[in-house]
Amino acid sequence: MNLKGRSLTTLLDLSDEELLGLLNLADELKIKKRAGVRGELLAGKLIALLFEKSSTRTRCAAIAAAVDEGGSAEYLDVEKTHLGKKESVADTARVLGRMFDGILFRGYKQMTVETLVKYAGIPVWNGLTDDHHPTQILADLMTLRESMGDLAGLKIAYLGDGRNNVASSLMLGCAHAGVNFVNCTPPELAPTPELIKTATAIASRNNCTVSVDADPESGVQGANAVYTDVWISMGEKTSVGARVELLRPYQVNMELMRATGNLETERVILLHCLPAFHDHNTEVTDICGALEVTDEVFESPFSKVFDQAENRVHTTKALMVATMADVDH
Ligand code: CP
Ligand code: NVA
Repeated sequence: MNLKGRSLTTLLDLSDEELLGLLNLADELKIKKRAGVRGELLAGKLIALLFEKSSTRTRCAAIAAAVDEGGSAEYLDVEKTHLGKKESVADTARVLGRMFDGILFRGYKQMTVETLVKYAGIPVWNGLTDDHHPTQILADLMTLRESMGDLAGLKIAYLGDGRNNVASSLMLGCAHAGVNFVNCTPPELAPTPELIKTATAIASRNNCTVSVDADPESGVQGANAVYTDVWISMGEKTSVGARVELLRPYQVNMELMRATGNLETERVILLHCLPAFHDHNTEVTDICGALEVTDEVFESPFSKVFDQAENRVHTTKALMVATMADVDH
């Protein structure tokens, strides 16, 4: 696989084979790290982490990934740079492109990451925008494959805000990987017809389906992974009370996990990109209890959320190696 010099703004930037190739490379890199082998695949590579929004996993995974293979990463809090105030995205991109070997961007507008790609002249990876979260989905699919084996023909049911960054990228990722995808969400939060059309075209060549189902019980039937995310995303301006009421029927609890029909045969896992609002883990849930997932499910043996978080390192590293390393992988 040769992705040298390539950027990742959405999962539409990858072919089906390239996405699976990244997952295979991530598996190899995970084995290497577990064996305690330090690599040199990113030796001399300097990565800028240009972040407008908060992050634990994406930021730390990138640092660990770079250092494990001999590279390094510098965190740039956008508030402390000139970006968007005294300097345009295009100018900042051209400056960073002269100093770094790759940029991981996290922020608001999808247009910002696209402008960085246009002007930086080095690989730029989208570490979350309002619209997409492609690097997350690489870790999600890796985790599902570790638990269930071959991805083709499996089913993921996503519950919650059906048009957020994670839901949108997950729909595309599943379509690429041959995983049947059901987005369980109320009509108010349904994904755009354009995105469904695009994902369906990819899914049809991979013998899988993409659908939207407002009924969580029917949506999760036969699911091998139940996936949820926060009900209000970073930077979203909406009424908290109204959103909670709208999404409460989509909470992932034991009853819903049982509705998959796969709990007894251990053919279903919980996935969550994290951070999560489960019982009493934050000031918010101290007041209102669990939101998108209950503790009973979050802390269960079939919850793979911390494997998923760890896999952010291996998949981010695979992306860096594939797009920046001096040798092919
Ligand atoms: N899942 C994820 O992107 O986590 P962070 O917001 O902590 O980076
Ligand atoms: N949809 C969430 C994902 C966090 C990783 C958000 O954008 O806040």
